[in-house]
Amino acid sequence: MRIDILTILPQLLDGPFRDSIMKRAQEKGLVEIHLHNIRDYSTHKQKSVDDYQYGGGAGMVMTIQPIADCIEKLKAERPYDEIIYMTPDGELLKQTVCNELSLKQNLIILCGHYKGVDQRVRDLFITREISIGSYVLSGGELGAAVLVDSIVRLLPGVLSDETSALTDSFQDNLLAPPVYTRPEEYKGLKVPDILLSGHTEKIDEWRAEQSLKRTQERRPDLLRD
Ligand code: ADE
Repeated sequence: MRIDILTILPQLLDGPFRDSIMKRAQEKGLVEIHLHNIRDYSTHKQKSVDDYQYGGGAGMVMTIQPIADCIEKLKAERPYDEIIYMTPDGELLKQTVCNELSLKQNLIILCGHYKGVDQRVRDLFITREISIGSYVLSGGELGAAVLVDSIVRLLPGVLSDETSALTDSFQDNLLAPPVYTRPEEYKGLKVPDILLSGHTEKIDEWRAEQSLKRTQERRPDLLRD
């Protein structure tokens, strides 16, 4: 998989992909992540990437030219399955969206800033708009980091235990059950006997019950979906 991220703040995205699972996925050649500084594509003499909005009002709008030039250059090099715009008014990111995107070959992710991008960028290029939650971030970069992480960990070969992504919360619309490790007892709190029993069927049953209980208590909306 190849992911191209368009941003005016590439340094914000240096960190999230440099360690742990994201780092290993890139080292293993399972994903290529390319950061593009939108400012590098500006033909404006001061390399500006934003302007006042028509109709007045506070806040700048990201201009079409540098974004369009960058997207067009990338599209001339290879076909893209989706060109995603990170925006609070997009479709809410859910595990089903991550699963679907993890099956794609090439993705572009555009990060907005200020009041967002000129609507015509969205009309002309964007195939999918994604929000990571019902709150407003100062830019799309943190959202893009969340999206990329949630997709890349699903790529075959990225997680060492191949089954572990399947037992994540949300994979079956249920939250994950509680987990325990050593010691068997801490300050009077004991690991449930069933987990020490060695009885795998009973343990699976207990985990399924706990998942359902947690979901009913914390996210009943998932059971209605
Ligand atoms: N940009 C600003 N807020 C955002 C959000 N909630 N999700 C995705 N991108 C954003």
